[in-house]
Amino acid sequence: MTSDIPAPPAADAVTCTGLTYAFGRTRAVDGLDLTVREGEVFGLLGPNGAGKTTALRCVTTLLPVPAGTVRVFGRDAAGERMAVRRLLGYVPQQLSADSGLTGRENVALFARVFDVRRRERAERVTQALAAVGLTDAADRLAKTYSGGMVRRLELAQALVSAPRLLILDEPTIGLDPIARTDVWDHINAVRAATGMSVLVTTHYMEEADQYCDRVGLMHRGRVRALGTPAELRRGLAERRGTDTLPTLEDVFRDVAGSGLQDPSGGGFRDVRSTRRTAHRVG
Ligand SMILES: Nc1ncnc2c1ncn2[C@@H]1O[C@H](COP(=O)(O)OP(=O)(O)OP(=O)(O)O)[C@@H](O)[C@H]1O
Ligand SMILES: [Mg+2]
Repeated sequence: MTSDIPAPPAADAVTCTGLTYAFGRTRAVDGLDLTVREGEVFGLLGPNGAGKTTALRCVTTLLPVPAGTVRVFGRDAAGERMAVRRLLGYVPQQLSADSGLTGRENVALFARVFDVRRRERAERVTQALAAVGLTDAADRLAKTYSGGMVRRLELAQALVSAPRLLILDEPTIGLDPIARTDVWDHINAVRAATGMSVLVTTHYMEEADQYCDRVGLMHRGRVRALGTPAELRRGLAERRGTDTLPTLEDVFRDVAGSGLQDPSGGGFRDVRSTRRTAHRVG
């Protein structure tokens, strides 16, 4: 795969250092440190309002980086926006497909926006649609698609530029279990073929457990717990002194329900009493 200017070798896919982004008085992202290693699937988890989407939008350069640094394969998201954009594909949380266009037209639009070479476009659009299993439906209007097909179409839009990093904001929300598995199968097939790195958010903990190499639990603008799903689950078991391995959902509740102050202070407050509270933070 050719990119105009080669990125520095051995750089991580994403490095955020002290990233801070505020909407007015709301610090949506508050000193975020985050590394996504090349080739891994990194899951950014956290309650509603934790700052996940805002952080992702800073990484994609759709939002500026007012404080801290964001690098994508070594490229600075503030100073080298176009270079960063060429490296990544993005499936936003909000619907990004146009229902009045066919699947093929939607993907072709992204191919143009993402600077895919004109003579390669038709072929790449066809490949991207095939990669998500939409070949047969490619020439139907997107408004005739099911929810799962729309999400796969958005995946094709993000894949058409052959990104080294795929950023997905809740790619499987609202999908039935089969459609969810389907989306992940397509992502993993592309990864196997290309070595693409993936940064994903999801509220489905069992999905994160199954598909993410590492997860970061974000709360109030910062990552409060980081590790492989197994490490985080074992860590909670140790803190609780139990033999039964908690689920990733237990870990999520532990972190998100803890009202914690400062993760660097060591350990999180034990919140056995915490109930399932989806904190609206901010
Ligand atoms: N455009 C905006 N204008 C003002 N405030 C915003 C805007 N977008 C997000 N916020 C605020 O920033 C904070 C973080 O929001 P963000 O959407 O990044 O959270 P999230 O972790 O993606 O949540 P969810 O899981 O619900 O998608 C919240 O307090 C939210 O209300
Ligand atoms: Mg979000």
